[in-house]
Amino acid sequence: MIQLFHLFKNFGPNAALRDIDLRVSRGEFVLITGPSGAGKTTLLRLIFGAEKPTSGQILINSINLNRLGRASLDLLRRRIGFVFQDFKLLPKKTVFENVALALEVTGERGSIVRKKTHQSLRRVDLAQKEKAYPLSLSGGEQQRVAIARAIVKDPLILLADEPTGNLDADLTRDIITLFKNIHVKGTTIVVATHNQELFEHSGQRTVVLKRGKIVAEK
Ligand SMILES: Nc1ncnc2c1ncn2[C@@H]1O[C@H](COP(=O)(O)OP(=O)(O)OP(=O)(O)O)[C@@H](O)[C@H]1O
Ligand SMILES: [Mg+2]
Repeated sequence: MIQLFHLFKNFGPNAALRDIDLRVSRGEFVLITGPSGAGKTTLLRLIFGAEKPTSGQILINSINLNRLGRASLDLLRRRIGFVFQDFKLLPKKTVFENVALALEVTGERGSIVRKKTHQSLRRVDLAQKEKAYPLSLSGGEQQRVAIARAIVKDPLILLADEPTGNLDADLTRDIITLFKNIHVKGTTIVVATHNQELFEHSGQRTVVLKRGKIVAEK
């Protein structure tokens, strides 16, 4: 589903990623860990096509991102859900509108948009907050809206950047359970987190990044 070959990413003189080789199969759930600055966010952004590699190849579903034009890349990105480290919710839109928008831009019919948006909000247990505005929500609730928005289009791949960043232990457990449930439905998931213990003891495949290189796989 995701294949990375000899991937390098430089920002000016700084190497954010160095010679990354990684394969993630369809339906796999992979954790990317490593200290702050290791390159986790950069790696997710490259897989999402939001950033171009300095060199190396990225294949998503056997499609080489380097060979895609703007329009085809946009189409492919509609099949990928991204939970941003800072959520990126629109403050002037309600919870419902934030989630629905992700489907509307794909050209989906209004009735389908409404149905899937309700479904998605139910999955993250936020149906009761659909009319609320993001800034009136707690951190954990905002996090779940961001997840609902990422899964509403039934993505092939779900990428999540520090999805439990500022949450307490209980909410962290809830979010992990949510990801496991999404995974069970067949979605390929890549979660980046500096919190190594997050999925410990669960037999989770874990890739450890340090200063832009893969230093261990568990
Ligand atoms: N747009 C950018 N311009 C310049 N340097 C960047 C940019 N994005 C990332 N970097 C650099 O690339 C390196 C990796 O950053 P990245 O954000 O991928 O790390 P991270 O593992 O996600 O860290 P954190 O755990 O703090 O989120 C860092 O040294 C960072 O300063
Ligand atoms: Mg990051």
